[in-house]
Amino acid sequence: MRCGLSRAQHRGPWFCWPHHCCTGTRQLFVEMADRMVADGWRDAGYEFVCIDDCWMAPTRDGQGRLQADPKRFPSGIRRLADYVHSKGLKLGIYSDVGKKTCAGFPGSYNHYDLDAQTFASWGVDLLKFDGCNSDSLDLLAEGYKRMSLALNRTGRSIVYSCEWPFYLRPPNYTEIKQYCNHWRNFYDVYDSWSSIKSILDWTALHQDTIVKIAGPGGWNDPDMLVIGNFGLSRDQSVTQMAMWAIMAAPLFMSNDLRHISPEAKRLLQNREVIAINQDPLGKQGYQLFKVQQEGWLWERPLSDLAYAVAVLNQQEIGGPQNFTFSLTWLGHGLACNPACSIRQVLPASRDWGVYSWLSSLSVEVNPTGTVLLTVQPVL
Ligand code: GLA
Repeated sequence: MRCGLSRAQHRGPWFCWPHHCCTGTRQLFVEMADRMVADGWRDAGYEFVCIDDCWMAPTRDGQGRLQADPKRFPSGIRRLADYVHSKGLKLGIYSDVGKKTCAGFPGSYNHYDLDAQTFASWGVDLLKFDGCNSDSLDLLAEGYKRMSLALNRTGRSIVYSCEWPFYLRPPNYTEIKQYCNHWRNFYDVYDSWSSIKSILDWTALHQDTIVKIAGPGGWNDPDMLVIGNFGLSRDQSVTQMAMWAIMAAPLFMSNDLRHISPEAKRLLQNREVIAINQDPLGKQGYQLFKVQQEGWLWERPLSDLAYAVAVLNQQEIGGPQNFTFSLTWLGHGLACNPACSIRQVLPASRDWGVYSWLSSLSVEVNPTGTVLLTVQPVL
């Protein structure tokens, strides 16, 4: 585990969504920081404003340090960090373990200590460290470790977000967790249902390996929330939010807070879902069973013996479907033993009342939508 980190995951918008990738300016990040405060994002718990790829000038400065693109960030990153901090927020930045970033800008290879010190001197609070353009997997592993140690040596608490496992077949997650605070395991998310579905399918397929490793200080990262853009329907947005909570995923949004619908905002700021995502027990959820044809049941153990339960309808056509399952299936038979109180969190909050252990639950779910519940034993 790296130094100085709280148990909570980290949440913040990650401003590199498809139509703004590589065109972000100081002005954009300032406006996003302003929106974060004015529109309640900070109060909901979103705390990072993150710069993704392409922020650098094409060459390092005379002392070999990374420097910001002088046109897009004329006053440099330190000044931007000061502004973001003045709003009670934190700043994330991006670099790459290899010779170049994924978009072809200077990478940190051979400069790990210098870059870590530069980021710390600017007041950076999070580093997303990408994995493009390494000459070998050994160099990639060495680079990820060296940057982790270099960040620690700065003495500043900097969240270390890796893409290391994505490049490995199979990854050694025990080792990765010693160095990284979260790590991308799979392909980049896109603003589409097929992308969200592929991430969920991959996660379910690999859950025996990845679920047990997640916990305070080290989390699997299924990539950003794309809610609030153009590609997901209302039900699919609910599914992303519910499942990112079940998966204990870091919540980073990739969207434009200046142009976001009230509905997307309500969903992204839903306190009950964020509380499930950030539950202090720090256990990642997993897929349980298929219910009827296209329903999938997931659960996540929460603190106080509670469980979050998601019922996802993978059917893409037709109308709402009923899925019925026994409460004895949940929490290895203990979630509702001898009885439990059930609350629906998504798509709308509603108390369902108290059920006994031997009851079945019938849940109506829209195509590609999810019903998210909490189940709390009543003793
Ligand atoms: C990689 C990462 C993405 C994004 C791009 C930027 O593809 O996985 O999240 O940072 O690089 O170039």
